[in-house]
Amino acid sequence: MASTHIMLGVTGSIAAFKACQLVSDWGKRGYETRVAMTAAAQRFVTPLSFASLAHTPVRTAMFPDTADSQDALDAQRLGISHIDDAKWADVLVIAPATADIIAKIAHGIADDYLTSMVLAYEGPKILCPAMNTRMYNNPVTQRNIAACREFGWTIVEPATGRLACQDTGKGKLADLEDIEDAVEQAAESAAASRCGTKTETDQPANDELAGLHVLVTAGPTQEPLDPVRYLTNHSTGKMGYALAQEAQAMGAEVTLVSGPVALDEPDGVHTVHVQTAQEMFDAVHGHFAQADIAIMAAAVGDFRPEHRSEQKIKKAGGVMPPITLVQNPDILAWAGEHKRPDGSQLVCGFAMETQDLLANAQSKLERKHCDMLVANDLNEPGAGFAHDTNRVVILTPDTDKNATAGEDGSTIHAEPQPLMDKRDLAAVILGRLARMRQERLAD
Ligand code: CTP
Repeated sequence: MASTHIMLGVTGSIAAFKACQLVSDWGKRGYETRVAMTAAAQRFVTPLSFASLAHTPVRTAMFPDTADSQDALDAQRLGISHIDDAKWADVLVIAPATADIIAKIAHGIADDYLTSMVLAYEGPKILCPAMNTRMYNNPVTQRNIAACREFGWTIVEPATGRLACQDTGKGKLADLEDIEDAVEQAAESAAASRCGTKTETDQPANDELAGLHVLVTAGPTQEPLDPVRYLTNHSTGKMGYALAQEAQAMGAEVTLVSGPVALDEPDGVHTVHVQTAQEMFDAVHGHFAQADIAIMAAAVGDFRPEHRSEQKIKKAGGVMPPITLVQNPDILAWAGEHKRPDGSQLVCGFAMETQDLLANAQSKLERKHCDMLVANDLNEPGAGFAHDTNRVVILTPDTDKNATAGEDGSTIHAEPQPLMDKRDLAAVILGRLARMRQERLAD
């Protein structure tokens, strides 16, 4: 299931530092948080603090030249937009919320990233005021808070106590527990309404893959050294499982060949569990002939120990035994070479790179005879292992004018995708493959 998405707005109050704790707590609960800061908030806490806790650039300005922080530049480079953030969020929280942001929200003012995103946002929203008690009690602030309530905001009332300015009264940011409770309730109601809107009667059924067989590999492989140790990688299988689930939802008969992961078997999908690359190869070999689309999303170990010790390797003597590695079969390359010659079978690979993304991916697409290659850069925020989101470039062999020349003079079409939930990305990839197959067969 996709994780809960929290959009946190932080405004210029001494309580801004407390919002760091909120991001940290939500991370522990498995929520994903994005943070937008006003210019005043950045005077109290640096965007870097929030970026480090949220693992994504902080939204600091609409235009990077108005705040040339690394976060603003990163945000622009990644094409982050206030509209995308407004659509992405399940719950919007502003904590702490100053008198200024409350006045702007009450009047529909959109003069920076946060206020523009607020106007574009349609889900449950929570305001947590924090300010000097006189400012809070001012009738104009009270009128603005009442207006926000009318516009559907939940107000988590500030606490009473001694304020940073030495005054005593109402205006302290509410207890973090109260804010977290309000967010949890809003997240639950957002999840319930999401399920409600995704009933079969409301949504047109997407059966683009009806009658087709889709084969997917997912997860890591484990290459045993001895009965207690193995070589593996950080793959969680989330992307492959999202593909299998989405293909099944699009009407396909799906076989999922999965390495060891902590995910539940998707309903309605034939799941084959394997441990090693050789076992994964054998399972793919056995199911490939009837597959119309094969997607290799697994992070297959390229090498395995030549010998697997029957007994636990002991450290007695203090000499580390040498480990000789031998190469595993390349499952994707094998599939690419054994496609049906009539073009009715498509093979899609994944490439996870840490440098020269496009050049490496292009060469993989060609070497492994893929019809599509989905490339992601491990250095991109929100992409790669363990995340619920991914940010990829989809490469296809193409003759269109935007294509770039590959190694052998052939052309490649490279299409960068925005940061997406893995399930949404699965739908994009499968839709593309379904249409590509139809076009091939129509030619
Ligand atoms: N793959 C595979 N079998 C292997 C290795 C990789 O099927 N033994 C598939 C993966 O599932 C993925 C694609 O090949 O779809 C690319 O995997 P990657 O590890 O990025 O590429 P490698 O071929 O291992 O190349 P390199 O190590 O040079 O990056």
